[in-house]
Amino acid sequence: MQILILGGTAWLGHEIAAEALRRGHQVTCLARGTSGSVPAGARLVRADRDTPDGLGAVAEQHWDAVLDVSRQPGQVRRAVAALAGTAEHFTFVSSCSVYADHGSPGADETAGLLPPLESDVMTSPDVYGAAKVACENAARNTFGPDRCLIVRPGLIAGPGDSTDRTGYWPLRFARPAADDGAVLVPEAPGLAAQVVDARDLAAWLITSAEQRLTGEFNAVGAVLALAEHLEIARGVAGHTGPVFVLDQQELAAADVNPWAGERSLPLWLPLPDFAGFMSRSNAAAKAAGLALRPLAETLADTLAWELATGPDRPRNAGLTSDEERRLLTIAHPRA
Ligand SMILES: NC(=O)c1ccc[n+]([C@@H]2O[C@H](COP(=O)([O-])OP(=O)(O)OC[C@H]3O[C@@H](n4cnc5c(N)ncnc54)[C@H](OP(=O)(O)O)[C@@H]3O)[C@@H](O)[C@H]2O)c1
Repeated sequence: MQILILGGTAWLGHEIAAEALRRGHQVTCLARGTSGSVPAGARLVRADRDTPDGLGAVAEQHWDAVLDVSRQPGQVRRAVAALAGTAEHFTFVSSCSVYADHGSPGADETAGLLPPLESDVMTSPDVYGAAKVACENAARNTFGPDRCLIVRPGLIAGPGDSTDRTGYWPLRFARPAADDGAVLVPEAPGLAAQVVDARDLAAWLITSAEQRLTGEFNAVGAVLALAEHLEIARGVAGHTGPVFVLDQQELAAADVNPWAGERSLPLWLPLPDFAGFMSRSNAAAKAAGLALRPLAETLADTLAWELATGPDRPRNAGLTSDEERRLLTIAHPRA
């Protein structure tokens, strides 16, 4: 197939391009080239999608499949307008952030969405979900429901995750901050963790494009308790030291951030508001061929990638070693 990837220079887009090449497809990526490189064997068309004719260099060619990872409504609106006449099938990589409610475990694709962002440009991450809804609408309205696939990943995990949400836990357990090997984890009974490996997601995206799958799908992993996810990270790292906990109230009082970013415990989320954030239904995607590798493999591969690429680099998520050592002085041994 002739496949056009709008993106391809960042993590997931690169994985998608690499998977398509492995299957013998002809792959063209369109990006500015500022986020990274495309895999060997792919053609990079350097273009800026924020300009009116950004898709000009690829708009005349026939494409069997187009896959788009954008989050900017204007970029998607211009892309579908430029490509609807020459492309057979359009996949938009959306997000489970499109859903209005994150408090209901087990929700499927019929759950209500946020109102779409009207503007062409998402200027704040606060409106990421609304921007993705607007992108979905542009793709579906222009390509039509029989030529359009909307894939909504939850948290994407695996080697290459530069947000550091995947790598924090196996790396922390492999290299504890405290001299006695103690590690701090959130005590969050009832909180789920659900990640999809970027490589599994990329494989399913290409399979779906090959099969011209249409419709909307949550592309999310198996639902585990967060405590189970952390135990798998611990096992992968071979950690045998003590484990200490702080609960939701204690973490909030200590100014520890949930989910991601500075001074955070990655993947931890406050209850009850986020009880459904990482426990969405993946039944439809699995029925349509999404195959999930074991979490232990994702975390082991990510730990190996972290160790190989520099575990002491500045981190984008988690506690620093100093922060963790200070917090351990007020934490309790895990029961
Ligand atoms: N990480 C998660 O856990 C998660 C969860 C749910 C959904 N998602 C979705 O999964 C996808 C991840 O994609 P990704 O890893 O490939 O990363 P990304 O950072 O979203 O990629 C953006 C891509 O678009 C290109 N781009 C940005 N602005 C451009 C412009 N003006 N003109 C041309 N190209 C432009 C970038 O390349 P250049 O900078 O080189 O131009 C890059 O290749 C996204 O759709 C994201 O919303 C992620």
